[in-house]
Amino acid sequence: MTGFAGRTTLGFPLFTPVLHTMRYVVIGNPIAHSKSPQIHAAFAAQCALADFSYERLLAPLEDFAGTVRRFVADGGKGCNVTVPFKETAFALADQLTDRAAVAGAVNTLKLQDDGSLLGDNTDGAGLVTDVLRHTTLTGKRVLVLGAGGAARGVLLPLASAQPASIVVANRSAAKAVDLAALLQAHASGVALTGCGFDGIQGEFDVVINATSASLGGERVPLPAGVFATGALAYDMMYGKDETAFLAQAREAGVAQRIDGLGMLVGQAAEAFRLWTGRAPDVEPVLAMMRAGLAG
Ligand SMILES: NC(=O)c1ccc[n+]([C@@H]2O[C@H](COP(=O)([O-])OP(=O)(O)OC[C@H]3O[C@@H](n4cnc5c(N)ncnc54)[C@H](OP(=O)(O)O)[C@@H]3O)[C@@H](O)[C@H]2O)c1
Repeated sequence: MTGFAGRTTLGFPLFTPVLHTMRYVVIGNPIAHSKSPQIHAAFAAQCALADFSYERLLAPLEDFAGTVRRFVADGGKGCNVTVPFKETAFALADQLTDRAAVAGAVNTLKLQDDGSLLGDNTDGAGLVTDVLRHTTLTGKRVLVLGAGGAARGVLLPLASAQPASIVVANRSAAKAVDLAALLQAHASGVALTGCGFDGIQGEFDVVINATSASLGGERVPLPAGVFATGALAYDMMYGKDETAFLAQAREAGVAQRIDGLGMLVGQAAEAFRLWTGRAPDVEPVLAMMRAGLAG
């Protein structure tokens, strides 16, 4: 991005054009809906990084890799990756963080000094940070609903917070069983099991909806008594109105009901930290985004 801030009385530019050296984008298809530019602009302002820019970049469905290469050749330093390219980004990365390797998906790429691309997955850290703003996880019984990309991305960071147990429940039970078995090898000290919705037994202190059921306004078929007294219900989806899952939790008497806007801001903060070494304060940015949703 270039710009002139003013002119001298002689008519010459007062400032020379400024080329941003910290160029970042979010890549997806579609991408126009992405709220990430607002979030990162707020982080950059907070950290007084005038040299930081962050824009949306639409990639053709068949050319994610080419889009990334052209962006890097043009001076880009890193990107966020969203639907449907997280698995493609995983394959493209030259190195992976442990959490990205376990997630099998990358939502953040960082250009390193030697020209290689580091792939990370910050979704789980965003979720855990947001849950910890409201409750503790240590020793808790956690139920994760869903076994898609989002569930897979958050299980290792969740296990790292040392809950007593994590049950993964999914519409297709076999996917939940496989995912729990895969993740168990990386989650020592945490009992990880998988089942179908009809196999859920007992009560849970933290219930996280990582299905896309709320997107269609659908409820998850949960057995009665699944929420323990004082439980927290978390829906990864967010919006202006109460999500279907949080309505379900409210009707079950759950007082603490949180949507996924904090996760969105949290995963962005983690990416921003990876790129810039700066840890922004998520609270004012979350408040700004919440106000934007309401308005
Ligand atoms: N807040 C954030 O920052 C953030 C970040 C990532 C994702 N998300 C949200 O997380 C959700 C899941 O995303 P994803 O990437 O994991 O999607 P995905 O990979 O397509 O997986 C979808 C999951 O939802 C289940 N599902 C779909 N429709 C259902 C229904 N009607 N009832 C019960 N289960 C249903 C699927 O079960 P089957 O396996 O049986 O098909 C699968 O487990 C979306 O709402 C997404 O917006 C939020």
